[in-house]
Amino acid sequence: MVANDKPGTFQYEQTPVYTTSNGCPVMDPESSQRIGQNGPLLLQDFHLIDLLAHFDRERIPERVVHAKGAGAYGEFEVTDDISDLTSIDMLSEVGKKTKCIARFSTVGGEKGSPDSARDPRGFSIKFYTDEGNWDWVFNNTPIFFLRDPSKFPIFIHTQKRNPQTNLKDATMFWDYLSTHQESAHQVMHLFSDRGTPYSYRHMNGYSGHTYKFTRPDGKFNYIQVHCKTDQGSKTFTNAEAGQMASENPDHHTQDLFDSIEKGDYPSWTCYVQVLSPEQAEKFRWNIFDLTKVWPQNDVPLRRFGKFTLSKNPENYFAEIEQVAFSPSHMVPGVEPSADPVLQSRLFSYPDTHRHRLGVNYQQIPVNQPLRAFNPYQRDGMMAVNGNYGANPSYPSSFRNMTYKPVKPSQEHEKWAGAAVAQQLPVTDEDFVQPNGLWEVLGRQHGQQDNFVNNVAGHLCAAREPVRRRTYEMFRRINKGLGARIERETEKLAPHPASQAAGVAQARL
Ligand code: NDP
Ligand code: HEM
Repeated sequence: MVANDKPGTFQYEQTPVYTTSNGCPVMDPESSQRIGQNGPLLLQDFHLIDLLAHFDRERIPERVVHAKGAGAYGEFEVTDDISDLTSIDMLSEVGKKTKCIARFSTVGGEKGSPDSARDPRGFSIKFYTDEGNWDWVFNNTPIFFLRDPSKFPIFIHTQKRNPQTNLKDATMFWDYLSTHQESAHQVMHLFSDRGTPYSYRHMNGYSGHTYKFTRPDGKFNYIQVHCKTDQGSKTFTNAEAGQMASENPDHHTQDLFDSIEKGDYPSWTCYVQVLSPEQAEKFRWNIFDLTKVWPQNDVPLRRFGKFTLSKNPENYFAEIEQVAFSPSHMVPGVEPSADPVLQSRLFSYPDTHRHRLGVNYQQIPVNQPLRAFNPYQRDGMMAVNGNYGANPSYPSSFRNMTYKPVKPSQEHEKWAGAAVAQQLPVTDEDFVQPNGLWEVLGRQHGQQDNFVNNVAGHLCAAREPVRRRTYEMFRRINKGLGARIERETEKLAPHPASQAAGVAQARL
């Protein structure tokens, strides 16, 4: 390797000389040193030991969630002025372009799991802005299963494998959802056909959380971001998704790679919903409750940009496996809101990166900001960027340093702090928006039928008391919906005598 200028761009000599890792030329990489033709191997064979020892360490921990994914590079362009809302440098003028990398993923499956599984999809983008890396760590649904972060590890366990059988477990899955009914809205999204997108190119991305767009004078607005696919929303039916899981488990990965390779670049148009602090105070919905959307009739979408993906990674591991997104990677002009789930995520991602990639994960080329200067962070495993050389490791009176003034926004959340600090009980209000989605499905041919069948085909494998409780959850959304789900599920459910342990069924 000769040079490394930008993330993902490496140059190699035309006919490189093969060497050991310390650069010593090797005559034959496929021949180990031994005594005579049939003699034992020699410990002095550094090439062999170097090769084996490195191979033994090839795997790093896969992401604890969102392990299966695909990504590509691209560019964001500002299409409409929103400088009245935020001082984010990347959004400062119409036409301004910023390089980015995106990674899309499924959530619950392992690295080798099928792309077409019924699951939410991750939708992450890292923007290399002039004032630092700004990450969007979004999903393809505008809401989530929970609003108290302590439930996240517990919830994820129910989506993964049964600790005894090591199988996906429909009872465990629905047991959690039917006893934590604030998840009803996300369940509606997951079991609509949007739970099985046709490809990563054909789905939207949503911040889900409320963030704050701030201005240098300390004024701010609450916002939510929407990225709408310019390819059009396209989904698999349950049957098609199941078939694709066996025909090509890497369908989404291949679709993204192939379309970029042939110049068919996917793009998304970005919008923002905006509420002033005063509007938020009077708003019907708690803006820090991640299980709720902001109805678009009340809070219209305002367009501000577009991003296009146009370059595949050169190396999957270096650039996609090692990319590290975090909601806490922010830039001046955007701040977190008091949403408790967002607040917890601000901690969780850099914490898992330190575990998964090491304490110096920001030095990995794909994660490097355009310019970062932080000589007070020193040393640690894999400090590969020169470790700030002779720069003082403290604010020395002998070294000039510029500290840029960044005024924090006023702490408006004080008015709502007490409310979000407590766990919110599930009330009838939690079923209003799920019913709104049921009505949206009713406007699209066949979508309500598909929804009922998608649930029934999965729920039927759960044990009987769990099924009953789940029917009641759907009845709270809409009486007719609950009745239809009960009818269709019971047709498929095994006879009680044959449902011994109630475990295990693939998710599709
Ligand atoms: P609207 O009728 O104004 O908007 C409904 C939105 O639903 C559309 O804009 C579309 O968003 C999305 N949608 C369309 N078809 C589907 C589908 N098959 N599965 C999932 N989403 C779909 O009503 P509201 O804003 O009052 O929302 C009604 C319901 O729509 C909500 O309860 C929510 O579940 C869902 N929704 C709302 C969003 C929001 O931010 N308000 C965003 C997405 C869904 P898009 O163009 O982004 O696909
Ligand atoms: C990945 C934690 C909620 C979107 C991850 C990872 C962790 C995590 C530990 C693995 C990251 C890595 O290894 O690089 C949590 C916690 C949550 C939460 C603790 C709630 C308390 C959410 C929500 C969203 C989301 C609400 C979307 C709005 C994502 C995405 C990824 C991810 C897109 C994949 C990032 C990538 O492509 O590398 N999450 N998560 N998560 N999470 Fe979350």
